[in-house]
Order: sequence, then C-alpha cells, then structure tokens
Amino acid sequence: MKVLLVGNGGREHALARAMVRTSDDVELLIQAGNPGLDELGTAHRFNPLDPEAVCALAHDNAVDLVVIGPEAPLVAGIADALADAGIPCFGPTKAAAQLEASKSFAKDVMEAAGVATARAFTCTTIEQVDAALDELGAPHVVKDDALAAGKGVVVTEDRQAARNHAQACLARPDGAVVIEDYLDGPEVSLFCLSDGTTVVPLVPAQDFKRLLDNNGGPNTGGMGAYTPLPWLPEDVVDHVVDTVAVPTVVEMARRGTPFIGLLYCGLALTSRGVRVVEFNARFGDPETQAVLERLQSPLIDLLYGAATGTLAEVPAPRWSEDAAVCVVMASFGYPGVLRTGETITGIDDAEAVEGVHVIHAGTTLIPAEPDPNGAGNCCGVEAEDALVNSGGRVLNVVGRGATIEAAREAAYAGVARIRFSGEQHRSDIATWPEDVLADDWRP
Ligand code: GLY
Repeated sequence: MKVLLVGNGGREHALARAMVRTSDDVELLIQAGNPGLDELGTAHRFNPLDPEAVCALAHDNAVDLVVIGPEAPLVAGIADALADAGIPCFGPTKAAAQLEASKSFAKDVMEAAGVATARAFTCTTIEQVDAALDELGAPHVVKDDALAAGKGVVVTEDRQAARNHAQACLARPDGAVVIEDYLDGPEVSLFCLSDGTTVVPLVPAQDFKRLLDNNGGPNTGGMGAYTPLPWLPEDVVDHVVDTVAVPTVVEMARRGTPFIGLLYCGLALTSRGVRVVEFNARFGDPETQAVLERLQSPLIDLLYGAATGTLAEVPAPRWSEDAAVCVVMASFGYPGVLRTGETITGIDDAEAVEGVHVIHAGTTLIPAEPDPNGAGNCCGVEAEDALVNSGGRVLNVVGRGATIEAAREAAYAGVARIRFSGEQHRSDIATWPEDVLADDWRP
C-alpha cells in the first residue's frame, strides 16, 4: 500500500517506523526535512498546509492513503480537499478538527454528549476573565481557545500570571480563553481510532507535560511518556470508550461532521471520577512513540480501516506485553527561546543499547562543505555531514523492556550516550508516586 505521510516531527517518525515495522506492504512517501524519517521512505518537499499541493502529490503518485500527523494541516482543511478528490485520508476534516482547535467548541460537544469534564467559562473580555478566575479559584487553568502549538495552557496558583496569559490571548484578533476548574489526580492519554462510527482504543499511556522533574517548571508539549500503566484499573479503558469516546463520535456524526482519525482523550482521574482535560484530533507526541512501540499487528490496517469506514472489519490491535518508555531530549531554552545549531553525537551508540531506538523530532542534517581540492579535506579525511538540533524537542529516546524498570533503564542508557550542548531532559520519566490512585478508586 502506498501511503503519503504529512508532517515531519517526532510523532511522524514514530508513525512511519510503526507502519513499516508492522507490515511488509507499506511504501511511504514522506515530507522531507527529518533526517530520521527521511530514511523510511521517499522524501518530497511540499507545503503541508496547502490542500492543492498535498492533493496533487497524492494524486500524481497514486497513493492509496494519506495519513495526517499534526493538527495544523487538519485545521488547514487538507482532509476536506482529499475527500473531495476521493483519496482516503486518516485525519479529520477542518470542522471535526475543531475538537482540538477550539477549546470552547470541545466543551460544547462534551456538554451535548454528556461527557464529564471540568466546569468552564469561555471569556472574550478581561472583565469576564476576572469573574471566572474569582468564581473558580486557584489553581487557575487558562487555555487559549485557539491552537497554540503546546503553549496555550497555563496552570498556576498565581492569579496575576493567569490574568497575564489570558490578556495575551485576548489581545489577538478574535482572541478568547477558556478558564476552567483545576482537575486533581493523575493524567492519562487514551488514543481512540474512529472511522466516524466505530471506536477502537489503543493502550493508555502517561505523558509528562512539565519541563522539570517532580512536575516542576512550565508546561511543554511533553517531556516523556510510558506504557503500560500498571497502576491503572483495567476497567478504565472500557469506561472511557463508553462514556467519552463513543458519545463524542456519535455527537460529531449527529452534527454532520463525523470524526475520522485519532481522538486523543486527555483525561484526569480525579477523586470524583474520570474527567476530560482536553481532546486532540491527532496522535499525541511523545505518547505515540511509546504506544506504537508495543503494537504487534499492522498499523496500516487500522489507519486504512478508519479512513475508509471499515474499522469494524479490522482485527483488534495486538499488543506486546513489553513496556516502552520515551524520554525527550530538548534544546537549551525550551519551551522558550531556543538555542539551536548544536552538533549532536552518539545516536548510533545509543541505538547499540539493547531495546533502544532514537526518534528524530527537531534535528537537521547539515551537508559537509564540498572540498574545493577534490576528495578529502586537508588531512585526507572525508568531511562528514553534521546533525544539529533545530527544534525545541530534539530527540526521543525510546527504551523497550520486559518491565517498566527495564524499559526505563534502557531509555536512560540511550540518553546518556547522546550529547549536544545545552541539552535538557527529565530524569523521572516513567515513575509515579506510590499513592498515585487510592486503592478503592474506580472510574
Ligand atoms: N503530549 C501532548 C500532546 O500531544 O498534545
């Protein structure tokens, strides 16, 4: 099957790796620019936000399926254009992607579908913000109503910091914020595939959203993830499918905007039960890197089934009993102003560790300068291309093992072999407090 994969970050590298690892029958066309991903298919340069360009590439290469990784192409209407062109696409339409792109839209759908979530106010003026902050109290949760590349959410005890974030969001044309109750309890990410009707859950994972150990520092896109979650009661997945994912998919279909793709359910397991923190309309990053490492059956069958309304006919995904842990290595300054262009070494050494592979998220290969005197440089040694960091999250080191501890040890052994100046990572990925959930906790 010929597949065009749109997007070229860490999530897409992990998706591509899983597609080719779990099936002999996948030929990938990929978006150029990620040195790890480039090795897994034929690289093409195109604008992922240009519906005509993506449709033309898919059409000219007679692809069987387009898989859209990031949210921005979904919001740009790439799936709509592919549907008009009759090309199967994994990823929701612009209207259905509003589940991620507009926090207030998502709240509206949840209310209509009877999905449990935090009490929230949508505010378009600073007076409304003040009233909402007073009503809900600290800790304050302020979410940009629009897409903000992982930087839209501030959770803080500091009322002034909450107000400042709201003010910055409101300053944009049509700016709005959603201010909501803080949800206590551990968070879980559950990915559900949907063809608009049928819902198939993947295995749950946990993301580490804060920059620093012990959940300190600012929110990020995610600094690491692991799966399985040994502390999670077994009935939680079925409960979330029945009370969150299916009602949401039914409500989206009722509105005439069926959700086709990956419904990311970001959940808090609160003292009052499961609550939805957020929906995303695509695979999570970096949870995907850990989740797909455990998939044993063909990923392509699931994606194609979702894209073509035949998910019910695809055998349920099979999972390895192994654990997988993903540790994110980030640039100096992340999630703020980045220092990039630093040479990265040690990836081959890291991958020599049993059970370790390295996903590229924000790297660039700088070709060696051609030698003006012919082959070799001044010392008679061929100059080599240099791999440098070019994004906030740079590499994702994935460790796999028979237990969480073994997978974690492998991942960190890999991290220890990789170097670039200013590199930062958390050292507590895949750990959890002993009392993460009360013994009698039930969804
Ligand atoms: N890891 C959080 C996200 O993908 O949005």
